[in-house]
Amino acid sequence: MELQILVFSSIILIPFFLYCFDLYRLRRMPPGPTGLPIIGNLLDIGPKPHESLAKLSKKHGPLMTIRLGSITSVVASTPEAAREILQHNDTSCSGRVVPDAVTALSIHDAAVIWISTNDVWKKIRKALGMYLTHKQKLDSLRDLRLNVVDCMIEFLRGSEKKKEYVDIGKLAFAVALNMMSSTCLSQNVASYDSDDIGGFKTAVKKVMEVDGKFNIADIFPVLKPLDPQNIRREAKVAYDWLDKVITGFVKERLNQRELKRPRFGDMLDSLLDYSQDNEAEFKLKHIRALLMDLFIGGTETSSNTTEWAMTELLLNPNMFLKVREEVCTAVGEDGKIQEAKILELPYLQAVIKETMRLHLAVPLLIPHRVEAHEVKLGDYHVPKNTQILINAWAISRDPKYWDKPLMFKPERFLGSEVDYKGQHFEFIPFGAGRRICPGLPLAQRVVSLMVASFVYHFDWKLPHDKEEMDMNDVFGLTLLRATPLLATPISIE
Ligand code: HEM
Repeated sequence: MELQILVFSSIILIPFFLYCFDLYRLRRMPPGPTGLPIIGNLLDIGPKPHESLAKLSKKHGPLMTIRLGSITSVVASTPEAAREILQHNDTSCSGRVVPDAVTALSIHDAAVIWISTNDVWKKIRKALGMYLTHKQKLDSLRDLRLNVVDCMIEFLRGSEKKKEYVDIGKLAFAVALNMMSSTCLSQNVASYDSDDIGGFKTAVKKVMEVDGKFNIADIFPVLKPLDPQNIRREAKVAYDWLDKVITGFVKERLNQRELKRPRFGDMLDSLLDYSQDNEAEFKLKHIRALLMDLFIGGTETSSNTTEWAMTELLLNPNMFLKVREEVCTAVGEDGKIQEAKILELPYLQAVIKETMRLHLAVPLLIPHRVEAHEVKLGDYHVPKNTQILINAWAISRDPKYWDKPLMFKPERFLGSEVDYKGQHFEFIPFGAGRRICPGLPLAQRVVSLMVASFVYHFDWKLPHDKEEMDMNDVFGLTLLRATPLLATPISIE
């Protein structure tokens, strides 16, 4: 009889205590919308999560808790809330939540984007700082980028002759990919004039597409083995293809080094040297994963920003002409745009910043995760493993900081100290803190060079009236234009 009482009271009491503990935990977390059983707040989040979260935060506050299936997230929607996370609690909040699609990459546990901020991560970020984005390194590889731009201009002249519309985003994607591949591997991997079916461009695009899809298995982890939307399987095909090609590049370079052939002096050479010196933490698999991360993290973000900048400039001819006038002062005697000079052009840089403010490439940054222990954010206690979303999109439209936030007004940045390097929390298109985008200095050069070249060398004709321009975007890994920007180039020389 006593045993029965014990079993019976355990059945009642254990769930009761668990429920009370959950209530206690939730009461210590930031407030948020009441969710439905099992699915939580899933129905509150539509196809544009950055917009629905911004709306919800107006009601529930700058730090808000939402629950999607079994995943609990805290969302930061103001500069102050972002600062609390990315500056005051940066170390505790810099983990990652690895999406199921990414696990299709067999070496995802070596990928800088997805691993915790451990010693290996530090080694990889150090290598990026030394060999990719250090000012001297960037300067020394300037000619490679100029060559890519020359090919792009040649392609545009060809399109002009054929009187063809150019898909500016698609072209910018191929250019950004080639800038990255020439910097890393001394090779161009994408062609401009074909759709490149089955090639490098398609594989990188595919990874971006599947990684950015809403995956039910991410919010109900019990479904992971089933992969109900086929997302992991699709991702695996693209990841395996890319990994095979990148491994081929690395093996070929190792052979050339063994045969004592001349070095290329590119990023791959530097990474192989670095790996020899740091064998324990930085192996060949880290090089393969890093190259993959750079192609995935550094191309669509840059091309998308370029496409939005061109959209705004084609809608605002006075701004377009102002940029052209400025770029003219940065052209050398050889008739080529000088990269170092365009980085100093105030109006061009203001146009790029304003584009990044209004058309954020990565609207929720890459989700962070509370690591190691419970963290106190303001008056709230947020438990270990909670996902952290920073709504940089909402932040860069906060009317407390931005006058007429929905207007494209590059002038707001002229004479202003606000920039995107992670110090001004009202403007964090690259994130802030230890996870801030390591590609920022390269992105600034690539985007500036593409926009300056488009504007300096060509006038552009839209296939429709300006008023008909579709300004909608589609949420994914990056916030893409809903309809591609098409325009015909007309040489001005
Ligand atoms: C306009 C262009 C770009 C934008 C807007 C952008 C934005 C971002 C953002 C928002 C993050 C996440 C920050 C966070 O988690 O808090 C990020 C991470 C990252 N970006 Fe970029 N990015 C751009 C270009 C690039 C380029 C050119 C590269 C490569 C050279 C690059 C490589 C990376 C990598 C490797 C990470 C992961 C860093 C980590 O987790 O430690 N990005 N980027």
